[in-house]
Amino acid sequence: MRKLVILGATGSIGEQALEVVSASDELSIVGLAAGRRWERLVGQARDHGVPRIALADSEAAAAATDAWKGQVLTGEQGIRELVADSGADLVLNGMVGSAGLGPTIVALTEGIELALANKESLVVGGELVTALAEATDTRIIPVDSEHSAMFQLVAAEMPGTVQRLVLTASGGPFRGRTDLSGVTPEDALAHPTWDMGGRITIDSATLMNKGFEMIEAHHLFGTPYDRIDVVVHPQSIVHALVHLNDGASLAHLGYPDMRVPISYALNYPERADLDVPTLDLAKAGELTFAEPDVETFACLRLAREAGQAGGTAPCVLNAADEVAVGAFLDARIPFTAIAEIVERTLEAIPAAAPGHFEDLYAVDAEARERARELIQAVGVAP
Ligand SMILES: NC(=O)c1ccc[n+]([C@@H]2O[C@H](COP(=O)([O-])OP(=O)(O)OC[C@H]3O[C@@H](n4cnc5c(N)ncnc54)[C@H](OP(=O)(O)O)[C@@H]3O)[C@@H](O)[C@H]2O)c1
Repeated sequence: MRKLVILGATGSIGEQALEVVSASDELSIVGLAAGRRWERLVGQARDHGVPRIALADSEAAAAATDAWKGQVLTGEQGIRELVADSGADLVLNGMVGSAGLGPTIVALTEGIELALANKESLVVGGELVTALAEATDTRIIPVDSEHSAMFQLVAAEMPGTVQRLVLTASGGPFRGRTDLSGVTPEDALAHPTWDMGGRITIDSATLMNKGFEMIEAHHLFGTPYDRIDVVVHPQSIVHALVHLNDGASLAHLGYPDMRVPISYALNYPERADLDVPTLDLAKAGELTFAEPDVETFACLRLAREAGQAGGTAPCVLNAADEVAVGAFLDARIPFTAIAEIVERTLEAIPAAAPGHFEDLYAVDAEARERARELIQAVGVAP
């Protein structure tokens, strides 16, 4: 039995991870955490016989304590304790946002293997996070579908043979459009191929998500940015591609279903049976590929530039984006202002080399403050 903690259990990744666990005889859950949806979390704990849960929101934690006999930990500190004292073999971090960085640090510090869906951990703290994983000799197994695919493609290759990495992008709901004025949250939340949480769905519509994934790939595989390409592939069947030194290119294919990379990460290095349809290429029909439009989707350019600047720049990129996406979802700014807020926040806070995780938290707070000020200036969305 592998003992598992799931963070972000009430979210899209968390719920699908619970499905994977339910179908397995090899995995048992020793802790669950979420933000505020305490009733759902308590229900999951009951269903899976989990002894301890943690909720970031203190009111939600108090309500859960009244309603449930198990142990309830509170706040960010509670989530860190849940991980540190869990005795787990594996932590699945499926939290959303830079709040996921803290538990990632705790898991790696404790030497607990990390199945990482929370891409923000690597976007915000990539250099320090990978250095910590190396120092504690702890494996990070990517859960993001593209990175899981790359992880599997690269695994069989000798060092020095992989020339380029190619990330595929569905292109989101606005692929092919060059005018994004008037886009509503409802339009942007309608992702054509993947069913995901709100923030990542908006990030997919701006292509910021693909930019984050470029930064994630850079840190996971130690690949320079000028050897990471993005190609638009609307069918989301090819998840990633690697080009090798002898002219061969390897691709990872499958229907878009996050249970596949989740199951791979939770069972690594083994593979478990999973009740998903096998790819039928003839039925899938035409697979198409195109260059991304970085003029219309400026977030992809901004992410590449922030990644190349390095240091605190990706942390600023993420913080400004989190704030801007929240404001867009609340109908406080137009869709096109997301990239503008991010760009102006990056201009206002020059990249610096973080010496410690505390430096990142300080820059994260500064960038959020700056982004909020800019949002005030942009005004209310039409
Ligand atoms: N969904 C996908 O298919 C997919 C694919 C690849 C990568 N990812 C990555 O996986 C992560 C999760 O995405 P998602 O789509 O599953 O998001 P989601 O559906 O919005 O779920 C987010 C989860 O995080 C929890 N949470 C939010 N703030 C928290 C905090 N401060 N402390 C603790 N927990 C908190 C939420 O709890 P409450 O709802 O209870 O507040 C919820 O359980 C993101 O980094 C995303 O980029 C997702």
